[in-house]
This record gives sequence, structure tokens and C-alpha cells, in this order.
Amino acid sequence: MTALETYIRENEARFIEDLKGWLRIPSISTLPEHTADVRRAAEYAVDQLQRIGFERAETIATYGHPLVYGEWLQAPGKPTLLIYGHYDVQPVDPVELWETPPFEPTIRDGNLYCRGACDDKGQTMLVFKALESLMRVNGALPVNVKVLIEGEEEAGGESIERYVKEHPERLKCDAAFICDTGMPAKDIPSLIYALRGITYTEVEVQGAKRDLHSGIYGGIAPNPLHALAIIISKLKDADGHIHIPGLYDKLRQPTQIEKDFWSTDTLGIGEMLVKEMGVSQTSGENEYPPMERIGARPTLEVHGIAGGFVGEGAKTVIPAVATAKISLRLPADLKSEEVFTLFEQAVKAAAPSDVTVQVRNLHGGEGMLVEPDSPPMVAATQALAEVYGKEPIYLREGGSIPIAALFDEILKAPVVMMGFGLPDDNLHAPNEKYSLDQFSRGLRVVASFLQKLG
Ligand code: BES
Ligand code: ZN
Repeated sequence: MTALETYIRENEARFIEDLKGWLRIPSISTLPEHTADVRRAAEYAVDQLQRIGFERAETIATYGHPLVYGEWLQAPGKPTLLIYGHYDVQPVDPVELWETPPFEPTIRDGNLYCRGACDDKGQTMLVFKALESLMRVNGALPVNVKVLIEGEEEAGGESIERYVKEHPERLKCDAAFICDTGMPAKDIPSLIYALRGITYTEVEVQGAKRDLHSGIYGGIAPNPLHALAIIISKLKDADGHIHIPGLYDKLRQPTQIEKDFWSTDTLGIGEMLVKEMGVSQTSGENEYPPMERIGARPTLEVHGIAGGFVGEGAKTVIPAVATAKISLRLPADLKSEEVFTLFEQAVKAAAPSDVTVQVRNLHGGEGMLVEPDSPPMVAATQALAEVYGKEPIYLREGGSIPIAALFDEILKAPVVMMGFGLPDDNLHAPNEKYSLDQFSRGLRVVASFLQKLG
């Protein structure tokens, strides 16, 4: 057994304890009452970096939540790797659906349950532990390392965006590594070569100047909730086609190799996802294979509609206002701002004339598409093959990590996206979990990846 393997085995239980300590801090970036917790979670990460032996480890103040920056640059002649992760987490609602409290890490059936267990504290911690293991065993890291961890990923990521734009010199690197993605199943190691971008909006529909009695005014009053339903149904039809003029104009066709991979789907990934959702068929653009719909097609989703009366019993009211949160996921060719403009126009065109509509752009981020065969990707491929015992597949992910596109654009460094989440990890939902096997394998993959890079 290698010294590295021995070290990992002897220390793995503590690695999990360190992760648990981080998970207990409810660092929900979107809720102002958790601001102090977010800060504590940042400081916890700084402490972890200091323990590894980073020569520099600090929080960086921003207009929002702090960034965490770490540096170890004592491998002259070796490449520099910039490592990204995020320590903020999603809110926990609906909290009553959690089997154990959302911020009490609990192990059941080989999984660690807690908000952030996977996204992204678990994944970031395994990277820290790979660094620690290499440092302890070799007294040094195989490459120069810069670490940049943010606390606003789930809230739009404004601060890191500004930081990267203002400090490209400080973040200069030969490659960037993002551990915030998943793989379709435990035995399908994967590398991600594309992410979708996002435009997240709020649509507010105003009818009368105040709520109205539906008997006195029903028949002549505008109903903003109904107007919203009309708008939404015009934006996307039952077959998943989005009716926003111009939306598809800039969408580039995938390559024939991609199309063949998606349509044959020899690993049955589409079917696995249907099973995981607990439905009998896929929704959406059924003329495209599932992997293409998730990775390479734009989508429009309604996240929530608010307005009117939803309490117990009955109340005969016609609401004055209704709002909906609606987002679009965008393959890399479609730019977030441009799509917002098209969306706003389409919403206004679809709105009945008896209401007024406001469309707000809550946040956005660009997608990305990278070369799957850059040298760092090759190193990651080999590391995955070594630990999982089979060649990884290359996937386009449907989720968004807006900073990935900026690393590509501003730092001009190849970006490796490799993560160990699974489709049943309940990201953003109650009972989020991380497989302990995935943690353990992931940490070995990352250690091997760093060695190969070096
Ligand atoms: N880790 C996810 C992104 C992700 C999930 C990538 C699954 C690949 C597979 C990340 O934390 C996330 O949820 N991002 C948000 C970004 C948004 C708020 C701008 C997302 O995708 O909704
Ligand atoms: Zn994440």
C-alpha cells in the first residue's frame, strides 16, 4: 500500500468529522438572518487551509459574503492549479420533510445527510482532504495551488465575479478545477465539459388597485393570477417548446458524436433519471434524447407562484397582485442578458391587456463549453479511471456554476469540472446527502489528479 493510501485510511474518520463540523454551520447565503453563520463557515474553511499548511489563508471581505482565499506556491516549475468551491448552502424549506434536522449531520446507510453534505461542502472538503493527505505524506504538494471558495454561489455569485474581474493577476493559473458537479451513477465516473447558464426572473402582474370581492367585482375585474397562468402557458407549450421569439436563433447544433452518444444512451442514463424522478415518462421535448435536453437545450421553468388566498378554508377574493419566479437554463451559446431582454418582451406580449406586468432580472450567469481533451482533462480522466477501474464518460451538465465561464473567459485557463454527487443526493431539496463512498473515492481521485498534473 502506498504511503498516501495508508494516510487516507488512518485519517478518513477524522476527515468526516471535519466535514460534519462545517455542515453544522447553517451558511444559507440567501437569508439575511444567517449572515453571521455564513461568515463562520468562511472562517472554518480558512482554518482548514491553515491546518493543511497553506502559506496564505484568509477571508476576503466583499460587498456580500466573504470569499476564502488560500495559496501554496512552493513547487517551482510546476503548474499552478486554481481550485474553486462554495461554502454557502440552499435554504432548508420545507423543513418538515427532513427526516433528521437539516443542520445535524447524520449517517444512514452509508450516506451523510445534511444541507450542504454534497453541494458543496462535502465536495469541497474532499478536495481539502486530498490536499492535506498529499502535504502530510510528501511534505509538499505536487503543484502550486490557489484556492478560491465563495459564499454566494447559491445567491447569484456577484462578489466572486467582481473579484475575478478585478484580480486576474492574483488568480493567474495554468488550470482551474471545480468540484461541484455529479455523475449519473456510482459506477459511471464522469467529467463535465459543459454547463448551462441561467436567467432568473420574477414576473409581477398587477390588476386592480386592491383585493376585490369576487361576488361584487367578479366578471369585470382583472385577475392577476389567471393572467399569470395565461402568460406562462404561452411561454412554453405542453411539448416543452419555448415560445420566446429569437431564443433559439443562436443555439449551435451539437456535434454528431454528441448526438450519437445521447441517442444511443448505452448506459441507460435517461431511464435512470426517469426512475429517480418517480415518474412514468419524461416531460418536455420528447423528440430529443434526455441527455441532450438536459445538457444542450434551453429550458424554462416556473419555480413558484404567489398571490391571492392559500390559507385554510375559503375566501372569495380576487387578488390585486400575483408574482411568479421563472428561470431559463441556457446552453453556452445563449447569453443570459440577451435572453432576459427576449424574455421580457415575450412576457409583455403574452400578457392580457387588462393587467400591467413588470419583469425583473434577479440574477444570471453564463454557461460554458470546454475542450474535453485539454491536458488537465486528460490527467483527470486518468485519475478517474485509476480509482473507479473504468474510463470516465464526458457529459454536459444541466446545472449552472456561473464562475466556471468567467475562469474560462478571464483567466483563459482550461477548466476541469469533476464532482462526485449522485442524482439521488437531493440537492436543494429536503434530505440532501452525500455518499460516503463517493467522498472516499473522490478524495483519492483528486489526490491522483493533482499528482498527475504535477
Ligand atoms: N452544484 C450546483 C450546480 C450543479 C448541480 C452542477 C448539479 C451540476 C450538476 C450549484 O451549487 C447550483 O445549484 N448552482 C445553481 C446556480 C444558480 C443559483 C446561479 C443552479 O444551478 O441552480
Ligand atoms: Zn453547488
